[in-house]
Amino acid sequence: MFNVGIITASDKGYKNEREDKSGEVIEEILRKNNYKVIKKIILPDDKKMLSEEMINMSDNLKVDLILTTGGTGFSKRDVTPEATREIVHRLAPGISEAIRYYSLQITPRAMLSRAVSGIRNETLIVNLPGSPKAVRESLDYIIGSLKHGLEILTGKATECARE
Ligand code: MTE
Repeated sequence: MFNVGIITASDKGYKNEREDKSGEVIEEILRKNNYKVIKKIILPDDKKMLSEEMINMSDNLKVDLILTTGGTGFSKRDVTPEATREIVHRLAPGISEAIRYYSLQITPRAMLSRAVSGIRNETLIVNLPGSPKAVRESLDYIIGSLKHGLEILTGKATECARE
């Protein structure tokens, strides 16, 4: 079972002006797929706070996976991809490419997500878009392959067995 941290980036959510439905959708999908949520937090769209929490979840809590939601669009306050890039050691662009590729078949607006994915030590970090709908579509699509990536990253599997 893999341990996960969830970060919702939302100024309104942080001020309790909006319910964190996207964080709940992530938690629900993870539970169904046998992941263990270690920490779930709502933060404002603040680059320093977001990257510090990613570092905390990775270095101190040693989670295998961090999923963020929100802050990937074009608003001036959207800084989740920048916060992520700053603290990862290696990028894993294929995951974000796959999300956009799949999502574009649902809505052309998927091109507006600047989400990135990357690896910090043994933690995989994946940005998801902000809306509950987008989160469900994106996470449902990648969750099966994520498991194999995490097995390789954490040394639980050494080879890419064919599907
Ligand atoms: N991806 C999927 N699968 N479904 C969606 O509805 N919405 C898009 C995009 N990705 C969407 C999606 C929209 S409208 C935006 S603006 C961007 O995600 C960025 O969203 P964010 O700023 O909330 O992260």
